Amino acid sequence: MSFEKKIKELLEKREQAKMGGGLKRIEAQHSKGKLTARERIDLLLDEGSFEEFDMFVTHRCTEFGLENQKYYSDGVVTGFGTIDGRLVYIYAQDFTVFGGSLSLAYAEKICKVMDKAMKVGAPVIGLNDSGGARIQEGVNSLAGYTEIFQRNINASGVIPQITGVFGPCAGGAVYSPALTDFIMMTKENSYMFLTGPKVVKTVTGEIVNEQELGGAMTHATKSGVAHFVADDEEQGIMLIRKLLSYLPQNNLEDPPLASCDDPIDRLEDGLNEIIPENPNKPYDVKDIIYSIVDYNEFLEVHRNYASNIITGFARFNGMPVGIVANQPKYLAGVLDINASRKAARFVRFCDAFNIPLVTLVDVPGFLPGTAQEYGGIILHGAKLLYAYGEATVPKVTVVLRKAYGGAYCVMSSKHLRGDINYAWPMAEIAVMGPKGAIEILSNKEIKAIENEEERNNFVIQKEKEYLDKFATPYNAAKYGYIDDVIEPRNTRFRIIRALQSLATKKDVNPPKKHSNIPL
Ligand code: HXC
Repeated sequence: MSFEKKIKELLEKREQAKMGGGLKRIEAQHSKGKLTARERIDLLLDEGSFEEFDMFVTHRCTEFGLENQKYYSDGVVTGFGTIDGRLVYIYAQDFTVFGGSLSLAYAEKICKVMDKAMKVGAPVIGLNDSGGARIQEGVNSLAGYTEIFQRNINASGVIPQITGVFGPCAGGAVYSPALTDFIMMTKENSYMFLTGPKVVKTVTGEIVNEQELGGAMTHATKSGVAHFVADDEEQGIMLIRKLLSYLPQNNLEDPPLASCDDPIDRLEDGLNEIIPENPNKPYDVKDIIYSIVDYNEFLEVHRNYASNIITGFARFNGMPVGIVANQPKYLAGVLDINASRKAARFVRFCDAFNIPLVTLVDVPGFLPGTAQEYGGIILHGAKLLYAYGEATVPKVTVVLRKAYGGAYCVMSSKHLRGDINYAWPMAEIAVMGPKGAIEILSNKEIKAIENEEERNNFVIQKEKEYLDKFATPYNAAKYGYIDDVIEPRNTRFRIIRALQSLATKKDVNPPKKHSNIPL
């Protein structure tokens, strides 16, 4: 064959590979409002930056007549490219080829990009849209999945791993996304579950559809499996690009500094009045977050899950940080099982990837009750405690209002190696709130007063004494547990100065094989 013909043959093979499972199946994909694997990659990566691997791989299965059905790429498009000029490795499952189902050859392609990403220290992004294990491949498909899981585990805490779910993701296949750092799901077409509606009906008798069982909103609000929900594929892909802008390439690098023209000493006068006079009145802590971070930009993680705690990424003077904030607007900002799990995972991610933590505290305590105790709040609360205590990244804490009891200890307190701990003048830092404290401390005296009015006045007086003594930041500041009491409107500047002073912080944990976080 002449060279000219060989080149022509190459170009034809490329064109053939790019058609995946063929025009009819591509049209079927589009008619569901879904993009193809290659269209998703084009949207995600910088224009013209995609370099594809293994385009000519085909499966090696000879069962069920599969030896006569082969498609180049075998249902997954893999390679590398850039996002905002930074290297990423990528795989995108192609539903037009055998429903995106996973063969051994397909798994090997994914493993190849994961291995390469680990060697060079670059994030891996997986775009999922698959009917799961390729049934005809039998145990080879299971082996392939498990090889991927092992690589997810090895890569955890070394390179960021991000999953976008754009279609089905069922059975054991869900465990690869679950092992990654962030899962984004699209509202209309994506679902994730271990066992589908039919099996659920047979085993438990429950009747539930795919969306209710494992749709994006189910996982965003109920299970917490999804960190982000997008209205459509374009929005989901832009979200992934944005998320990456806060993350370092790997655990040995710092997160990327952005240029910042937002003045570091920008005063926010409104913050001096944002806390209501009545300590039981809520406010929206997100208003505080937006007003202190660069350009009022905050990428919230787990927005729809455990809303009593807020987690997300922002920048201070161009420096990416992870923000954790109690949210008084929901359940008074109390710590419960879900909030503890949500925040603990976020804190550990930030710590693994050298992202400083800024914690805004307004927490009345842990949520009491049998549901919480039976559900294991002791263990789940300990996760957050553990995560903060284990974290060696710079930790800056601001107590906005309440910091009571165990929740004071947990929320990045000085005693968990909090580096710089500030409080607003309206902060209340104590073992418990005035009502509970007086009931315990003055129980006998209260009972001894027969006249109801006198009794009430006595309680009010005692509560006032308690509040004057304990419901201030100065008691904690007296012991150095609070480094300074700061004016609310100056919070942005004080946080930035604190972070600047900690930029070269080094701290280590004792040598160990790995920790034993209370799972
Ligand atoms: C082989 C598959 C396949 C699979 C789909 N296809 N799933 N081929 N193995 N797992 C093929 C179909 O035969 C069809 O081929 C094409 O993909 C599109 O599938 P449709 O059913 O026509 O599409 P749709 O109606 O959109 O339904 C999509 C679906 C459904 C919901 C994903 O296909 C389905 O339920 N598939 C099986 C899902 C499943 O049970 N997987 C195993 C899960 S257990 P043609 O040639 O007609 O285009 C598992 C274990 C993993 O994954 C364990 C890891 C440890």
